Amino acid sequence: MGWNSWNSFANIVDSKIVQQQAKTIATNGMKEAGFEYVVIDEGWWLGERDAGGNIVVNKKQWPAIQPGQKDGDMANIAAYIHSLGLKAGIYTDAGLDGCSMYPDSGPKLMKTGSEGHYEQDFLQFSKWGFDYVKVDWCGGAKEGKSGAIQYAQIARAIQKAEKSTGRKLYLSICEWGSQNPWFWAPGVGQIKSTIWRTGGDIIPPVVESLHDAEHDKRVIALKNVLESFDAGLHPEAQHTGYFNDLDMMVMGMRGMTDALDRIHMGLWAISSAPLMVGSDMTRLSPATLSLLTNKDALAIHSDSYGLQPIRVDEPTTGIQIWAKPMAVAGRRAVAVLNRSDASTQVKVNWEKLGLKGLPKSSRDVWNGRETAADGAISVPAHDLALLIVDGEDKAPAEYNAKESSITGMQATRGPQFARLHYANTSGQTVVVRMKSTSGLSTAVALPPTSGSESGAVGLILPNGVADISFEGDSASIRSLDVYSW
Ligand code: GLA
Repeated sequence: MGWNSWNSFANIVDSKIVQQQAKTIATNGMKEAGFEYVVIDEGWWLGERDAGGNIVVNKKQWPAIQPGQKDGDMANIAAYIHSLGLKAGIYTDAGLDGCSMYPDSGPKLMKTGSEGHYEQDFLQFSKWGFDYVKVDWCGGAKEGKSGAIQYAQIARAIQKAEKSTGRKLYLSICEWGSQNPWFWAPGVGQIKSTIWRTGGDIIPPVVESLHDAEHDKRVIALKNVLESFDAGLHPEAQHTGYFNDLDMMVMGMRGMTDALDRIHMGLWAISSAPLMVGSDMTRLSPATLSLLTNKDALAIHSDSYGLQPIRVDEPTTGIQIWAKPMAVAGRRAVAVLNRSDASTQVKVNWEKLGLKGLPKSSRDVWNGRETAADGAISVPAHDLALLIVDGEDKAPAEYNAKESSITGMQATRGPQFARLHYANTSGQTVVVRMKSTSGLSTAVALPPTSGSESGAVGLILPNGVADISFEGDSASIRSLDVYSW
């Protein structure tokens, strides 16, 4: 969760803008709500290196902020962000050239990528004090590279930098879904947590201060937000620590209405997608701010299973019920999305949520009120209702593991939710590769457990998964509960 400079400032980003945005997040309630990263996207570096290959930045764009600091040192802004109790993020490209154009559609700036300098650059970012790095793919795409290979090298360079500085550097993969990253990004280069973009940009940047014909025509519509959501659904790849990234948020930007903000917040939250807001923090309306900091929506987003939702019902065309299990037994997050042009009265069929009987409670996240016991709810055209439902899980089918394999499983029909029980007393997160006779192969990160206790992670098994085996580190796989929804 955090803020990213690209959507609203493009390549005109500088120290002043970042300071102002960071200060706003620290004081408008977002920091308290959990927004923590302040990410400087493309435009901070214009492609210059010194004789030793070290990145050189513009002194006016990144001056000293405190006495004793030097102009042109990115450590200045990282220290400023840290002084507010926030974390700092930076950006580069996996190839030789970045995407860079000034301000975002003009002349191209070359050599703004890290290829040939992976170890040097990631160590530099970490030494400057950055906690997060987004790595784009413009240069990689131009050179026809393999994302799986480049990002594995990057992940290893990052882990090396982390060892050297003792500071965690979170990797954000940004290759827009062009080489199906959901197949290789979870666990790439043995990384224990990461996010990967699943599609292109929701919209090119809307830089309000520029007011030119190019920027003035950029207005966000429902279609932009829904396309990013639809392209981002790869629930089988998303596990504890590994997340599909639906793109930076455009909440409150030009074209967004309160209803569209609700759709955006609701879909990103129920998808446990990164909530990196790209709007100008100083221009957020109270309504947008209150949606962004809604406690229940953020609880759905930050649920420890971190799963994506499954479309469990579409009672009429365009009226969709999306649901996912949360880590508390019997708890579901439910989104009722009205993509149609007409207001609707829907009945959520509790049976489709894998619950036994009627739920004990169902709360409307936007207004905090209980919904009708029979599941009836009205949703205006182009709007979304978000619910937290508590009931009792139907009994799962249980399978015990033998030597890290689970056999005798019937092939799943449709996507199924499963809980994997394991033990990991190594004291650190370990990564296992989960494989099924169906062809499923993905990484799952297993956080440490203590003593003889089992840990549990949530999984969504796609259609057709049967016998499963786990390969990898020192965790012991105990059992799998499969819930039929
Ligand atoms: C790509 C990315 C964006 C942004 C720009 C910067 O388009 O997808 O998120 O980083 O590059 O040029």
